[in-house]
Amino acid sequence: MPLKIAVLISGSGSNLQSIIDRIEQGILDARITLVLSNKPDAYGLKRASQHGLATRVVEHGSYASREEFDRAVVQEIRASQAQAVVLAGFMRILSPFFINSFPNRILNIHPAILPAFPGVDGQKQAAEHGVKISGCTVHFVDEKMDHGPIIIQAAVPGLADDDAKSLGSRILALEHRILPQAIQWLAQDRLKVSGRRVEIEGAPQPLLAGGGQETALVSPGLDKGF
Ligand code: GRF
Repeated sequence: MPLKIAVLISGSGSNLQSIIDRIEQGILDARITLVLSNKPDAYGLKRASQHGLATRVVEHGSYASREEFDRAVVQEIRASQAQAVVLAGFMRILSPFFINSFPNRILNIHPAILPAFPGVDGQKQAAEHGVKISGCTVHFVDEKMDHGPIIIQAAVPGLADDDAKSLGSRILALEHRILPQAIQWLAQDRLKVSGRRVEIEGAPQPLLAGGGQETALVSPGLDKGF
């Protein structure tokens, strides 16, 4: 049985697209029961509709408090029968109510090697800091922002003339690989969380790919197809 997931977005939805593609290719054993955005103009909603997926908009501005907004979102997720939640560029901090509604069942993609550069614009923060290595992280969501147990990370070079855009696009290409992979491990029930550590059953060895600007280190490595 595919894992039923709700994907939450706020923008372009390219990570959503990478999940859709892997599902349609038969590589990721999941089914998207809901794509929810807090922004009505998020391009990701169009992507979802093009693939026949159910969409909802819940605008945070219409709610008096974070928790009221979260209650409305959780209600939509539950109504969709999703068993897990994927934050794919969803630019809202979740309340404890939300997190406790899906314990160890909420994943987030962050465009930096956590715990470095949490918060908004991780790519920009890293580029401006002049880092020589940056990347992305998929982690379980806990009550602190960009903080929960780490599932997989990918590293890319930071180059001398990088800005947020150039570094960000190098990072985004890896986001599109590690997020569907982490969802697949969740779908296969291969993730065991103990404290801060995530043990991945049968995780492939870390993988070094590309060369020059295209170099990427992915740890743990990726299963075939990801
Ligand atoms: C990604 O870089 C994600 O990591 C960040 O926001 C961006 C969303 O991109 N939090 P998209 O909407 O998936 O194209």
